Amino acid sequence: MDTPTPLFSLLCFFLFSLFLGEEQHVVEGSRVWTFGFRPNMLFVFGDSYADTGNNRKALASSWKLPYGITFPGKPAGRFSDGRVLTDFIAGYLGIKTPVPYRYRKELGGRLKYGLNFAYGGTGVFDTPAPEPNMTTQIDFLQQLLNDSVYSKRALKTSVALVSLAGNDYSNYIATNGSTAGFPAFIGRVVNQLKVNLKRIHNLGVRKIAASALQPLGCLPQSTAQFSFEQCNESENALVGLHNQLLAQAVNDLNKETNSSSFFVLDMYNAFWNVFNQKQAHQVSPTFVNPFEPCCVGVSAAFSCGSVDENGVKQYTLCSNPKSKFFWDTVHPTEQGWRAVYSTPALQSSLKQFW
Ligand SMILES: *[C@@H]1O[C@H](CO)[C@@H](O)[C@H](O)[C@H]1NC(C)=O
Ligand SMILES: *[C@@H]1O[C@H](CO)[C@@H](O)[C@H](O)[C@H]1NC(C)=O
Ligand SMILES: *[C@@H]1O[C@H](CO)[C@@H](O)[C@H](O)[C@H]1NC(C)=O
Ligand SMILES: *[C@@H]1O[C@H](CO)[C@@H](O)[C@H](O)[C@H]1NC(C)=O
Ligand SMILES: *[C@@H]1O[C@H](CO)[C@@H](O)[C@H](O)[C@H]1NC(C)=O
Repeated sequence: MDTPTPLFSLLCFFLFSLFLGEEQHVVEGSRVWTFGFRPNMLFVFGDSYADTGNNRKALASSWKLPYGITFPGKPAGRFSDGRVLTDFIAGYLGIKTPVPYRYRKELGGRLKYGLNFAYGGTGVFDTPAPEPNMTTQIDFLQQLLNDSVYSKRALKTSVALVSLAGNDYSNYIATNGSTAGFPAFIGRVVNQLKVNLKRIHNLGVRKIAASALQPLGCLPQSTAQFSFEQCNESENALVGLHNQLLAQAVNDLNKETNSSSFFVLDMYNAFWNVFNQKQAHQVSPTFVNPFEPCCVGVSAAFSCGSVDENGVKQYTLCSNPKSKFFWDTVHPTEQGWRAVYSTPALQSSLKQFW
Protein backbone atom coordinates (compact mmCIF):
# COMPACT_ATOMS: atom_id res chain seq x y z
CA MET A 1 0.00 0.00 0.00
CA ASP A 2 1.71 3.16 -1.06
CA THR A 3 -0.91 5.71 -0.01
CA PRO A 4 -0.67 6.95 3.56
CA THR A 5 -3.58 6.17 5.85
CA PRO A 6 -5.93 9.03 6.64
CA LEU A 7 -4.77 8.97 10.24
CA PHE A 8 -1.16 9.31 9.18
CA SER A 9 -1.99 12.23 6.87
CA LEU A 10 -3.95 13.88 9.64
CA LEU A 11 -1.04 13.50 12.03
CA CYS A 12 1.38 14.98 9.50
CA PHE A 13 -0.97 17.86 8.92
CA PHE A 14 -1.24 18.41 12.67
CA LEU A 15 2.52 18.43 13.13
CA PHE A 16 2.95 20.69 10.14
CA SER A 17 0.36 23.09 11.56
CA LEU A 18 2.18 23.09 14.88
CA PHE A 19 5.38 23.88 13.08
CA LEU A 20 3.78 26.73 11.16
CA GLY A 21 2.14 28.07 14.28
CA GLU A 22 5.45 28.16 16.09
CA GLU A 23 7.36 29.65 13.19
CA GLN A 24 4.83 32.42 12.86
CA HIS A 25 5.46 33.47 16.45
CA VAL A 26 9.19 33.46 16.03
CA VAL A 27 9.36 35.41 12.81
CA GLU A 28 6.47 37.80 13.31
CA GLY A 29 7.32 41.08 11.62
CA SER A 30 9.99 39.51 9.47
CA ARG A 31 9.83 40.50 5.82
CA VAL A 32 11.76 37.60 4.38
CA TRP A 33 9.68 34.77 5.75
CA THR A 34 6.61 34.26 3.59
CA PHE A 35 4.65 32.54 6.35
CA GLY A 36 4.93 35.82 8.23
CA PHE A 37 2.65 37.63 5.73
CA ARG A 38 0.48 40.03 7.64
CA PRO A 39 -2.25 41.77 5.67
CA ASN A 40 -2.73 45.39 6.68
CA MET A 41 -5.81 46.27 4.66
CA LEU A 42 -9.16 44.55 4.16
CA PHE A 43 -11.42 45.39 1.22
CA VAL A 44 -14.97 44.13 1.39
CA PHE A 45 -17.44 43.63 -1.45
CA GLY A 46 -20.94 42.24 -1.59
CA ASP A 47 -24.14 42.40 0.39
CA SER A 48 -25.79 42.68 3.79
CA TYR A 49 -23.82 39.83 5.33
CA ALA A 50 -20.79 42.10 5.03
CA ASP A 51 -22.18 45.67 4.87
CA THR A 52 -21.31 47.79 7.91
CA GLY A 53 -23.26 50.90 6.94
CA ASN A 54 -23.18 51.71 3.22
CA ASN A 55 -26.93 51.55 2.65
CA ARG A 56 -28.78 54.83 2.59
CA LYS A 57 -30.44 55.67 5.90
CA ALA A 58 -33.82 56.45 4.38
CA LEU A 59 -34.01 53.10 2.59
CA ALA A 60 -32.58 50.38 4.77
CA SER A 61 -33.97 48.59 7.82
CA SER A 62 -30.39 48.42 9.10
CA TRP A 63 -30.73 52.09 10.12
CA LYS A 64 -33.91 51.48 12.11
CA LEU A 65 -34.47 50.17 15.62
CA PRO A 66 -33.97 47.49 16.82
CA TYR A 67 -30.98 46.94 14.46
CA GLY A 68 -27.70 47.65 16.24
CA ILE A 69 -29.05 47.39 19.81
CA THR A 70 -26.26 45.06 20.93
CA PHE A 71 -23.49 46.85 19.03
CA PRO A 72 -22.89 49.74 18.75
CA GLY A 73 -26.02 50.23 20.88
CA LYS A 74 -28.13 51.98 18.24
CA PRO A 75 -28.90 51.44 14.54
CA ALA A 76 -25.74 52.09 12.55
CA GLY A 77 -26.23 50.28 9.25
CA ARG A 78 -25.41 46.69 10.13
CA PHE A 79 -28.09 44.10 9.29
CA SER A 80 -27.99 42.50 12.73
CA ASP A 81 -28.35 43.38 16.39
CA GLY A 82 -24.58 43.86 16.44
CA ARG A 83 -21.41 42.78 14.70
CA VAL A 84 -21.46 41.00 11.33
CA LEU A 85 -19.13 38.75 9.35
CA THR A 86 -16.83 41.63 8.36
CA ASP A 87 -16.13 42.52 11.99
CA PHE A 88 -15.17 38.95 12.87
CA ILE A 89 -12.93 38.56 9.84
CA ALA A 90 -11.20 41.89 10.46
CA GLY A 91 -10.64 40.74 14.05
CA TYR A 92 -9.17 37.47 12.82
CA LEU A 93 -6.76 39.37 10.56
CA GLY A 94 -5.84 41.77 13.35
CA ILE A 95 -7.08 44.76 11.33
CA LYS A 96 -9.59 47.37 12.50
CA THR A 97 -12.96 46.92 10.79
CA PRO A 98 -12.68 48.92 7.57
CA VAL A 99 -15.10 51.84 7.38
CA PRO A 100 -17.99 51.92 4.92
CA TYR A 101 -17.13 53.51 1.57
CA ARG A 102 -19.76 56.21 2.14
CA TYR A 103 -17.69 57.53 5.09
CA ARG A 104 -14.37 57.52 3.22
CA LYS A 105 -14.10 61.33 3.46
CA GLU A 106 -15.28 61.81 7.06
CA LEU A 107 -13.21 58.89 8.36
CA GLY A 108 -10.27 59.24 5.97
CA GLY A 109 -7.81 58.47 8.75
CA ARG A 110 -9.00 54.89 8.71
CA LEU A 111 -8.49 54.24 4.97
CA LYS A 112 -5.23 52.56 5.95
CA TYR A 113 -7.25 49.58 7.18
CA GLY A 114 -9.02 49.22 3.82
CA LEU A 115 -12.63 50.00 2.94
CA ASN A 116 -15.98 48.28 2.92
CA PHE A 117 -17.78 48.54 -0.44
CA ALA A 118 -20.56 46.06 0.42
CA TYR A 119 -24.17 47.21 0.08
CA GLY A 120 -27.07 45.30 1.64
CA GLY A 121 -29.53 43.96 -0.92
CA THR A 122 -27.13 43.73 -3.84
CA GLY A 123 -25.85 40.88 -5.99
CA VAL A 124 -23.53 40.40 -8.92
CA PHE A 125 -26.46 41.41 -11.14
CA ASP A 126 -28.88 44.23 -10.52
CA THR A 127 -31.56 43.59 -7.91
CA PRO A 128 -34.46 45.82 -6.83
CA ALA A 129 -32.09 47.36 -4.25
CA PRO A 130 -31.18 50.81 -5.63
CA GLU A 131 -27.59 50.29 -4.56
CA PRO A 132 -24.39 49.55 -6.52
CA ASN A 133 -23.98 45.97 -7.76
CA MET A 134 -20.66 44.20 -7.24
CA THR A 135 -19.24 45.41 -10.55
CA THR A 136 -19.81 49.01 -9.50
CA GLN A 137 -18.39 48.31 -6.04
CA ILE A 138 -15.16 47.17 -7.70
CA ASP A 139 -15.25 50.27 -9.92
CA PHE A 140 -15.17 52.31 -6.69
CA LEU A 141 -11.88 50.70 -5.66
CA GLN A 142 -10.48 51.12 -9.16
CA GLN A 143 -11.44 54.80 -9.05
CA LEU A 144 -9.57 55.22 -5.75
CA LEU A 145 -6.51 53.65 -7.39
CA ASN A 146 -6.87 55.91 -10.41
CA ASP A 147 -7.10 58.87 -8.04
CA SER A 148 -4.01 57.66 -6.14
CA VAL A 149 -5.89 57.32 -2.87
CA TYR A 150 -4.40 53.82 -2.86
CA SER A 151 -1.32 52.61 -4.74
CA LYS A 152 -1.16 49.25 -6.47
CA ARG A 153 1.93 48.57 -4.39
CA ALA A 154 0.04 49.11 -1.13
CA LEU A 155 -2.64 46.70 -2.29
CA LYS A 156 -0.04 43.92 -2.38
CA THR A 157 -0.44 43.56 1.37
CA SER A 158 -4.24 43.74 1.24
CA VAL A 159 -6.86 41.01 1.28
CA ALA A 160 -10.48 40.98 0.19
CA LEU A 161 -13.71 39.50 1.49
CA VAL A 162 -16.39 38.94 -1.15
CA SER A 163 -19.84 38.10 0.20
CA LEU A 164 -22.55 36.77 -2.09
CA ALA A 165 -25.37 35.53 0.11
CA GLY A 166 -28.14 35.05 -2.44
CA ASN A 167 -29.84 38.31 -3.47
CA ASP A 168 -29.50 37.38 -7.15
CA TYR A 169 -31.44 34.22 -6.39
CA SER A 170 -34.23 35.79 -4.33
CA ASN A 171 -34.64 38.33 -7.12
CA TYR A 172 -34.82 35.54 -9.69
CA ILE A 173 -37.54 33.73 -7.72
CA ALA A 174 -39.43 36.98 -7.12
CA THR A 175 -39.42 38.00 -10.78
CA ASN A 176 -39.76 34.56 -12.39
CA GLY A 177 -42.20 33.17 -9.84
CA SER A 178 -40.47 29.80 -9.64
CA THR A 179 -37.15 28.02 -9.74
CA ALA A 180 -37.60 26.96 -13.39
CA GLY A 181 -34.43 27.67 -15.31
CA PHE A 182 -32.48 27.98 -12.08
CA PRO A 183 -29.47 25.78 -12.89
CA ALA A 184 -28.61 27.89 -15.94
CA PHE A 185 -29.05 31.06 -13.92
CA ILE A 186 -26.74 29.72 -11.19
CA GLY A 187 -24.12 29.22 -13.90
CA ARG A 188 -24.48 32.85 -15.00
CA VAL A 189 -24.21 34.14 -11.42
CA VAL A 190 -21.04 32.17 -10.71
CA ASN A 191 -19.49 33.21 -14.04
CA GLN A 192 -20.10 36.86 -13.23
CA LEU A 193 -18.69 36.33 -9.73
CA LYS A 194 -15.60 34.79 -11.31
CA VAL A 195 -15.11 37.86 -13.52
CA ASN A 196 -15.42 40.04 -10.41
CA LEU A 197 -12.93 38.01 -8.37
CA LYS A 198 -10.41 38.18 -11.20
CA ARG A 199 -10.80 41.94 -11.44
CA ILE A 200 -10.10 42.34 -7.71
CA HIS A 201 -6.98 40.24 -8.17
CA ASN A 202 -5.89 42.33 -11.16
CA LEU A 203 -6.13 45.47 -9.04
CA GLY A 204 -3.37 43.95 -6.92
CA VAL A 205 -5.16 42.44 -3.92
CA ARG A 206 -3.12 39.53 -2.59
CA LYS A 207 -5.70 37.13 -1.17
CA ILE A 208 -9.38 36.98 -2.03
CA ALA A 209 -11.91 35.07 0.08
CA ALA A 210 -15.24 34.34 -1.64
CA SER A 211 -18.08 33.21 0.58
CA ALA A 212 -19.87 30.03 -0.38
CA LEU A 213 -23.65 30.21 -0.10
CA GLN A 214 -25.09 29.37 3.30
CA PRO A 215 -28.02 26.90 3.28
CA LEU A 216 -30.62 29.33 1.91
CA GLY A 217 -33.43 26.88 2.61
CA CYS A 218 -32.69 27.15 6.36
CA LEU A 219 -33.12 30.93 6.54
CA PRO A 220 -36.22 31.87 8.55
CA GLN A 221 -37.82 33.26 5.38
CA SER A 222 -37.91 29.65 4.14
CA THR A 223 -38.41 27.81 7.43
CA ALA A 224 -41.41 30.01 8.39
CA GLN A 225 -43.72 27.78 6.33
CA PHE A 226 -42.57 24.84 8.48
CA SER A 227 -43.10 26.67 11.83
CA PHE A 228 -39.33 27.35 11.82
CA GLU A 229 -38.70 23.66 12.38
CA GLN A 230 -37.23 22.43 9.11
CA CYS A 231 -35.42 23.66 6.04
CA ASN A 232 -36.57 23.84 2.43
CA GLU A 233 -34.53 21.03 0.94
CA SER A 234 -35.13 21.97 -2.70
CA GLU A 235 -33.56 25.37 -2.03
CA ASN A 236 -30.60 23.76 -0.28
CA ALA A 237 -30.07 21.50 -3.30
CA LEU A 238 -29.70 24.57 -5.54
CA VAL A 239 -27.21 26.01 -3.06
CA GLY A 240 -25.21 22.82 -3.53
CA LEU A 241 -24.92 23.48 -7.25
CA HIS A 242 -23.84 27.09 -6.69
CA ASN A 243 -21.15 26.03 -4.24
CA GLN A 244 -19.87 23.31 -6.54
CA LEU A 245 -19.53 25.77 -9.43
CA LEU A 246 -17.90 28.31 -7.12
CA ALA A 247 -15.27 25.79 -5.97
CA GLN A 248 -14.56 25.03 -9.63
CA ALA A 249 -14.31 28.74 -10.51
CA VAL A 250 -11.87 29.38 -7.65
CA ASN A 251 -9.79 26.42 -8.76
CA ASP A 252 -9.70 27.72 -12.33
CA LEU A 253 -8.71 31.21 -11.16
CA ASN A 254 -5.80 29.88 -9.13
CA LYS A 255 -4.63 27.93 -12.18
CA GLU A 256 -5.07 30.87 -14.57
CA THR A 257 -3.08 33.13 -12.26
CA ASN A 258 -0.64 30.42 -11.18
CA SER A 259 -1.31 31.38 -7.60
CA SER A 260 -3.23 30.50 -4.48
CA SER A 261 -4.77 33.94 -4.31
CA PHE A 262 -8.39 32.75 -4.32
CA PHE A 263 -10.20 30.64 -1.79
CA VAL A 264 -13.70 29.83 -0.60
CA LEU A 265 -15.11 30.62 2.84
CA ASP A 266 -17.15 27.55 3.61
CA MET A 267 -20.31 29.22 4.88
CA TYR A 268 -22.41 26.20 3.97
CA ASN A 269 -20.71 23.85 6.42
CA ALA A 270 -20.12 26.62 8.93
CA PHE A 271 -23.88 27.23 9.19
CA TRP A 272 -24.49 23.48 9.42
CA ASN A 273 -21.81 23.13 12.11
CA VAL A 274 -23.86 25.58 14.17
CA PHE A 275 -27.27 24.05 13.36
CA ASN A 276 -26.00 20.62 14.35
CA GLN A 277 -24.61 21.69 17.70
CA LYS A 278 -26.41 20.05 20.55
CA GLN A 279 -26.96 21.93 23.75
CA ALA A 280 -24.85 19.81 26.02
CA HIS A 281 -21.09 19.27 25.75
CA GLN A 282 -20.47 22.40 23.70
CA VAL A 283 -18.20 25.24 24.60
CA SER A 284 -19.43 27.46 21.79
CA PRO A 285 -22.85 29.09 22.01
CA THR A 286 -25.86 27.01 21.13
CA PHE A 287 -29.27 28.07 20.08
CA VAL A 288 -32.54 26.52 21.20
CA ASN A 289 -34.26 26.66 17.83
CA PRO A 290 -31.70 27.89 15.33
CA PHE A 291 -34.26 28.46 12.53
CA GLU A 292 -36.48 30.85 14.50
CA PRO A 293 -35.50 34.55 14.32
CA CYS A 294 -35.31 36.98 17.22
CA CYS A 295 -37.03 39.85 15.45
CA VAL A 296 -40.03 39.21 13.24
CA GLY A 297 -42.89 41.23 11.72
CA VAL A 298 -46.34 40.83 13.30
CA SER A 299 -47.64 39.67 9.93
CA ALA A 300 -46.28 38.94 6.46
CA ALA A 301 -46.81 42.60 5.54
CA PHE A 302 -44.27 43.70 8.14
CA SER A 303 -40.66 42.93 8.89
CA CYS A 304 -38.18 43.55 11.69
CA GLY A 305 -37.96 47.33 12.20
CA SER A 306 -41.39 48.11 10.65
CA VAL A 307 -43.58 50.73 12.29
CA ASP A 308 -47.10 51.79 11.29
CA GLU A 309 -48.11 55.36 10.36
CA ASN A 310 -48.35 56.25 14.07
CA GLY A 311 -44.86 54.96 14.74
CA VAL A 312 -46.15 51.90 16.58
CA LYS A 313 -43.79 48.99 16.08
CA GLN A 314 -45.10 46.11 13.98
CA TYR A 315 -42.60 43.47 15.01
CA THR A 316 -41.86 41.31 18.01
CA LEU A 317 -38.45 40.98 19.59
CA CYS A 318 -37.08 38.05 21.59
CA SER A 319 -36.02 38.78 25.16
CA ASN A 320 -32.37 37.88 24.60
CA PRO A 321 -30.77 38.21 21.14
CA LYS A 322 -27.80 36.17 22.42
CA SER A 323 -30.07 33.13 22.63
CA LYS A 324 -30.98 33.26 18.93
CA PHE A 325 -28.98 32.35 15.86
CA PHE A 326 -31.02 34.45 13.45
CA TRP A 327 -31.79 38.10 14.04
CA ASP A 328 -34.36 38.65 11.30
CA THR A 329 -35.64 36.46 8.48
CA VAL A 330 -32.28 36.35 6.67
CA HIS A 331 -29.49 37.65 8.90
CA PRO A 332 -27.71 36.06 11.89
CA THR A 333 -27.44 37.83 15.23
CA GLU A 334 -24.04 38.96 16.46
CA GLN A 335 -23.97 35.82 18.59
CA GLY A 336 -24.93 33.82 15.49
CA TRP A 337 -22.02 35.30 13.53
CA ARG A 338 -19.69 34.60 16.46
CA ALA A 339 -20.79 30.97 16.37
CA VAL A 340 -20.34 30.74 12.57
CA TYR A 341 -16.92 32.33 12.88
CA SER A 342 -15.89 29.83 15.57
CA THR A 343 -16.87 26.70 13.63
CA PRO A 344 -14.21 24.26 12.40
CA ALA A 345 -15.47 24.84 8.83
CA LEU A 346 -14.86 28.59 8.91
CA GLN A 347 -11.66 28.44 10.94
CA SER A 348 -10.07 26.05 8.46
CA SER A 349 -11.19 28.26 5.54
CA LEU A 350 -9.71 31.34 7.17
CA LYS A 351 -6.24 29.79 7.42
CA GLN A 352 -5.97 30.31 3.68
CA PHE A 353 -5.56 34.05 4.23
CA TRP A 354 -1.95 33.45 5.27
C1 LIG B 1 -23.96 46.87 -12.61
O1 LIG B 1 -24.46 48.18 -12.54
C2 LIG B 1 -24.02 49.01 -13.61
C3 LIG B 1 -24.50 50.43 -13.30
O2 LIG B 1 -25.84 50.46 -13.06
C4 LIG B 1 -24.57 48.47 -14.91
O3 LIG B 1 -24.15 49.27 -15.97
C5 LIG B 1 -24.03 47.05 -15.10
O4 LIG B 1 -24.61 46.47 -16.24
C6 LIG B 1 -24.34 46.17 -13.89
N1 LIG B 1 -23.58 44.94 -14.03
C7 LIG B 1 -24.13 43.73 -14.03
C8 LIG B 1 -23.20 42.59 -14.19
O5 LIG B 1 -25.32 43.53 -13.91
C1 LIG C 1 -9.23 53.83 -14.17
O1 LIG C 1 -8.23 53.93 -15.12
C2 LIG C 1 -8.21 52.92 -16.12
C3 LIG C 1 -6.94 53.03 -16.93
O2 LIG C 1 -6.71 54.37 -17.25
C4 LIG C 1 -9.48 53.06 -16.96
O3 LIG C 1 -9.54 52.08 -17.96
C5 LIG C 1 -10.69 52.90 -16.03
O4 LIG C 1 -11.90 53.15 -16.75
C6 LIG C 1 -10.62 53.84 -14.85
N1 LIG C 1 -11.65 53.38 -13.95
C7 LIG C 1 -12.33 54.15 -13.14
C8 LIG C 1 -13.39 53.54 -12.34
O5 LIG C 1 -12.09 55.33 -13.05
C1 LIG D 1 -36.12 34.63 -15.51
O1 LIG D 1 -35.91 33.47 -16.31
C2 LIG D 1 -35.33 33.74 -17.57
C3 LIG D 1 -35.25 32.42 -18.35
O2 LIG D 1 -34.70 31.41 -17.54
C4 LIG D 1 -33.96 34.40 -17.39
O3 LIG D 1 -33.40 34.69 -18.63
C5 LIG D 1 -34.11 35.66 -16.56
O4 LIG D 1 -32.82 36.19 -16.30
C6 LIG D 1 -34.82 35.36 -15.25
N1 LIG D 1 -35.05 36.58 -14.47
C7 LIG D 1 -34.24 37.03 -13.53
C8 LIG D 1 -34.66 38.23 -12.80
O5 LIG D 1 -33.18 36.49 -13.26
C1 LIG E 1 -39.26 25.52 -1.27
O1 LIG E 1 -38.68 26.50 -2.08
C2 LIG E 1 -39.13 26.53 -3.43
C3 LIG E 1 -38.30 27.59 -4.15
O2 LIG E 1 -38.34 28.82 -3.48
C4 LIG E 1 -40.61 26.82 -3.45
O3 LIG E 1 -41.06 26.80 -4.80
C5 LIG E 1 -41.35 25.78 -2.62
O4 LIG E 1 -42.71 26.09 -2.57
C6 LIG E 1 -40.78 25.75 -1.21
N1 LIG E 1 -41.48 24.82 -0.34
C7 LIG E 1 -41.38 23.49 -0.33
C8 LIG E 1 -42.23 22.76 0.61
O5 LIG E 1 -40.61 22.90 -1.04
C1 LIG F 1 4.04 29.14 -11.34
O1 LIG F 1 4.65 29.58 -10.13
C2 LIG F 1 5.72 28.76 -9.69
C3 LIG F 1 6.14 29.23 -8.30
O2 LIG F 1 6.15 30.61 -8.22
C4 LIG F 1 6.84 28.81 -10.71
O3 LIG F 1 7.90 27.98 -10.31
C5 LIG F 1 6.30 28.34 -12.07
O4 LIG F 1 7.28 28.47 -13.05
C6 LIG F 1 5.06 29.13 -12.46
N1 LIG F 1 4.48 28.53 -13.65
C7 LIG F 1 4.01 29.24 -14.67
C8 LIG F 1 3.39 28.49 -15.79
O5 LIG F 1 4.07 30.46 -14.67
